[in-house]
Amino acid sequence: MPTFSLAVFASGHGSNCQAIQTAIETGRLDARIGVVISNNPNAGVLAWAKTIALPAIHVSSDQFATTMDFHNHLLTMLSDFKTDMIVLAGYLKKIGKPLLEAFPGRILNIHPALLPSFGGKGMFGRHVHEAVLASGVRLTGVTVHLVDEEYDRGPIVMQAAVDVSDDDTVESLSAKVLSLEHRTYPLAIQLFVDGRVEIAGRKVRIRNKQ
Ligand code: GRF
Repeated sequence: MPTFSLAVFASGHGSNCQAIQTAIETGRLDARIGVVISNNPNAGVLAWAKTIALPAIHVSSDQFATTMDFHNHLLTMLSDFKTDMIVLAGYLKKIGKPLLEAFPGRILNIHPALLPSFGGKGMFGRHVHEAVLASGVRLTGVTVHLVDEEYDRGPIVMQAAVDVSDDDTVESLSAKVLSLEHRTYPLAIQLFVDGRVEIAGRKVRIRNKQ
């Protein structure tokens, strides 16, 4: 069994989490999902994870007296599951400083547009694609980036693009982008598994394969 252990944080359906698991099962990603964590007890991702016997845990700050207790609990869990990397997959909460400090350069997120455009607070789900269509850009895509204290701002690890067609709607665009996310996220995670990612300030360099 691969040793590189991912903690996937998700708030909703979790199709990216499922795509990561499929990449693992088909030998495209040499890692394992150690735990799935959601702030939403009704998240589809938790129900799905249970169907394949992955540890699936609901944890949210409102279960704790203080934010510090919440973070300490998360840190203990991450350590119990021997987490090497945190992967955000549609996680709608901000990541707190204690986690950022405990996992420097090891918290990844995927955003459904080409950052630094169409990101930031409130830019999630259909809002992103509405803004893309309203702007008239001819390309959109996905961005895998490291997480810092601001929404959608951390160093960019990988991007992939798709055309925006004249007849695209929010629905058609979000389907195209989501399918691209499913292909891109495992590739980006594998770079970390292979130790190929070098972070220099805002820039990420990818070392050649050994
Ligand atoms: C994806 O579009 C991702 O880019 C964004 O949240 C969405 C999650 O979708 N961060 P899913 O829950 O993985 O299906």
